[in-house]
Formats: sequence, structure tokens, C-alpha cells
Amino acid sequence: MNDHGSIIQTERLRADEAGLARAAEILRGGGLVAFPTETVYGLGADASQPAAVAKIYAAKERPRFNPLIAHVDSVSTAFSHGIFNDTARRLAEAFWPGPLTLVVPVAPTCTVSDLARAGLDSVGLRVPSHPLAHRLLAAVARPVAAPSANRSGRISPTAADHVLGDLNGRIDAILDGGDTQVGVESTIVSCLGDVTRLLRPGGVTREAIEGVIGRKLEAAPESGDSPVAPGMLASHYAPRARVRLNAGEFLPGEAALLFGSDGPRGLERAAAVLNLSESGDLAEAAAHLFSSLRQLDASGAQTIAIVPIPETGLGEAINDRLGRAAAER
Ligand code: TXA
Ligand code: MG
Repeated sequence: MNDHGSIIQTERLRADEAGLARAAEILRGGGLVAFPTETVYGLGADASQPAAVAKIYAAKERPRFNPLIAHVDSVSTAFSHGIFNDTARRLAEAFWPGPLTLVVPVAPTCTVSDLARAGLDSVGLRVPSHPLAHRLLAAVARPVAAPSANRSGRISPTAADHVLGDLNGRIDAILDGGDTQVGVESTIVSCLGDVTRLLRPGGVTREAIEGVIGRKLEAAPESGDSPVAPGMLASHYAPRARVRLNAGEFLPGEAALLFGSDGPRGLERAAAVLNLSESGDLAEAAAHLFSSLRQLDASGAQTIAIVPIPETGLGEAINDRLGRAAAER
């Protein structure tokens, strides 16, 4: 959509030199470009231009201004935007580039706009490992704000077609890089003062982070009036169908989402069946999570019933997203 709310032509850009150059040109010009990261597709805008950042909220129909993650091409660029204490530095060095976002105090040289930070004196930074994202960020040479490229409240996109289904005609372009690898959003850790908090479970496991910092992560503050991630709203990532968790058996007509080799009772009566990972691999399950929810939703079933998923490793992020998909709306 342009400023007058009318439909614009969304360019589908190929993952080649010309496509990258065009995507960078649009971003520098203040436009919106969806691009692949290793987690999910992001809806990018130049984070240093408030007018460009504002377009993200309009395109997503996001109800309020939340702080956005600023994506940069390298660890050294990230260090120029934020103040990294010892813990933050260790996490950056261990997990960047990769599916980790660090919330740190804003540095005097930070060019991420107030709007992208929602007026906070901290900034959320991420260095993605996806090669296309990396090349795009290097070409733009500015921090790029990018929430997931879906309309507010809908399932996060892990393929270019998912993005177009939600945002065609509302964004300037999409850079098509095929399916994303990790499948759930980045883990968000805040390193403010001497407290290190897990704000959102995601693509880097709690266990891996605690292994690097040598102690337990603190919990996120209770969501009172403090700014929280849209991903932290109780109802989020919602398919149209109702979602039923921890299913021990399936009712007639339900769509079934499995994990591992067990086939619970009633499977033969299910309207549709998918398995996140037959071998019980949580990384494979995370990669298939959002596209499986979309596919089962498209089956037309009234309810998607999901077997229990272990809470270890990437299971924490998977169960977090499933809990929100199942929440009252
Ligand atoms: O994997 C991902 O993280 C994807 C891809 C596209 O990179 N991006 C993503 O962005 O999920 P988004 O906008 O959905 O997540 C932004 C969240 C905020 O809602 C907030 O929780 C946290 O990041 N955040 C960012 N800056 C923050 C800050 N200064 N203080 C607290 N939280 C912050
Ligand atoms: Mg999102």
C-alpha cells in the first residue's frame, strides 16, 4: 500500500546480483522489501528512516508501535549500534551470524531511528546468517528493521509465497530465496545492566546460551506496561482453525499434526495428517512448523490437533509458538 492506502505492484526479485541490487535500491529509497533470513522472511525497511519504518506498521496492520529488530551485516557493525557488556559480547561472538537477537543499550553512534526502537534507550540487534540476507544488508549499508513478513496475528512466513499471500500489493518487493532453514524466529536475549533475560525462545536454544554464559537465563519480565514482542502477545501465530494441544487421540474431522513415529488413536478418522518430523528431530520440526500449520489450515478442518512436543532444545520455541496459536482470540 502507498501512503494513500492504494495497491502497489509488488516486484518479485530473483536471488541474483540484479535482484539484490534492486532490493537494496528500494530499501535505501525508503521502500519495503521482504527478504529471507535463516529463521523466517522479514519485512525490511531502512531502520534509520522513520517514514520507511512507519510503512512496516501500515503494511502489517500492526496495531501499535513495538520495538523492531535492526538487522546488520556483521558483528562489528552491530558493535557500532549498541553497547555490549561482557555477556553480550560473548553471545555475539558465539552465535552471530545466526538466529539470536540481542537487546543492548543504544550506542551514541547508533543510527537506528527512535521509531524503530519504539522510543527505548535500548536496541534489538541481529546479524542473520542467511547468505542472501547478509549480501542485502552489506549492499544497503544501513541497519534494516524487519519483523516477520506477515500481517499482524497471522502465521510467520517461511516461503516467498506465504509472504505474497499476506502482503502482495502492500510492499514494494520480495526477494525470493526459497524456503527458510530454521523455521522459528530468533531467540531474543536482553543484556541490560547485569541481568541477562530470555525475552523470546527461538532458533538458538536456551541450553546453548546458558552453556556460553555459564549460568541460567532470567525470565522475561511480566508483560505489564513494559514493551513486549508482538510474538509475546497471548494470541499470535494464529491459523483460522482452532488449535488443540497435547492431543492423545484425534476426533473425527480434525486435522492431525504429529511428531515422531507414534500414531495416536483416531488417526484414521483425521481429515488431514502431517508429521513435523517422523524421526523426532526438533530442528526438522521447527523448520516445518509454520508451513505445516498453514497446510492443515488450508485443509478446511475446524480444528488442528497436535501431539505433545518435548520441551527441550528447540522444543521450547516450538511449544511457545503453538501455545500462542492455541490461545483465546
Ligand atoms: O527471526 C526473527 O527475529 C525475525 C526475522 C525477520 O529476523 N524477526 C522478528 O522480528 O521476529 P519482530 O519484529 O517480530 O520481533 C521484534 C521483537 C520486539 O517485539 C521485542 O520483543 C524485541 O524484538 N525487541 C526489539 N528491540 C527491543 C528492545 N529495545 N527492547 C526490548 N525488546 C526488543
Ligand atoms: Mg512476527
